[in-house]
Amino acid sequence: MSKQVYTIIDNILQHDIYTENGVLLLKKGIEIQDSHKKLIARHLVKTEYISSCDEEVVEYTDEYSQTVRNMKQLMEEVAEGNVSNLEEAIAPFHSLLEDMLKEHNLLHTSRELHTHDATTYEHSVNVGFLSALIGKILRVPDVLIGRLGEMGLLHDIGKLKVQQQLSEKGELGISEEEEMKKHTIYGHELLKGKSDIHYLVPVAALLHHEVCDGSGHPHGYTEEKIPFAVQIVTVADKYDGLCSLEVNGVKFSPFDAAESIRKEAFDGKLNPKIVLPFIHYLKQHFVNQTVKLNNGQIGEVVYFSNDELTKPLVRVGEEFFDLKINTNLTIIG
Ligand SMILES: [Fe+2]
Ligand SMILES: [Fe+2]
Repeated sequence: MSKQVYTIIDNILQHDIYTENGVLLLKKGIEIQDSHKKLIARHLVKTEYISSCDEEVVEYTDEYSQTVRNMKQLMEEVAEGNVSNLEEAIAPFHSLLEDMLKEHNLLHTSRELHTHDATTYEHSVNVGFLSALIGKILRVPDVLIGRLGEMGLLHDIGKLKVQQQLSEKGELGISEEEEMKKHTIYGHELLKGKSDIHYLVPVAALLHHEVCDGSGHPHGYTEEKIPFAVQIVTVADKYDGLCSLEVNGVKFSPFDAAESIRKEAFDGKLNPKIVLPFIHYLKQHFVNQTVKLNNGQIGEVVYFSNDELTKPLVRVGEEFFDLKINTNLTIIG
């Protein structure tokens, strides 16, 4: 395991500490007691008492932005058929993915970074990271984790082709929404037969809008016909898409997004074998997170008493609010 350095000044923790699975172990700002030191030791997080601040998240933020820029260029080149060595071009993405999975703050970082006007490129990088993260949660073999990353990264590549056509022709004969649906076909065409990528990468581009009950597109395949790895990308895609959704001017929180995919699993659209372990992970991740309530108050998630992810117990100062009972209170960010 790589060494993680966290700063503790005058006994106050200066950074959030995460476990190997990316679950928040200790929140920055707390006063470190002996019990905390035992907790850290139990989770094998090495600490050092140093005087200068170690800005890990800032470092990742910069690397993330740089990766999005690199991937923008890569995707544009793929869409134009100009990439000779795809494997080499994807290398910066793999390098950041490896670091983020190792340092366990992937969701933390992407939540900090998530913008509600996320571009196709940001979405693609996020879906790549999330697909790999879900693979890790499901304990798939290591070789599949990088592949899931690539499948997620390139799943929407066909959208660039649609965008190109829209800008060239100005107006298309059919509705823009219908034309956009064809991005799965275009993506598959762009990627299929490339010798330097795994065959599942074009398959994910083609089938990531298929759902288990057969109501998806382009073929209306049911679960048996959709490779399990593609179903992982579909869950990651849904979750990230919902995180940047805004309905009637109201932004979806990660809690809303998680609740929404949980419902889709129970409705037979998404595979519960993928969604439920991911939800379990998210719940652990959400505990201790700072949230904003619709009455303007800022609180901290304490506990989920049932399955519903939008209604945890929230602490605001010294007061506790059970959102299951206080139905007028909701998390808005
Ligand atoms: Fe898509
Ligand atoms: Fe997508």
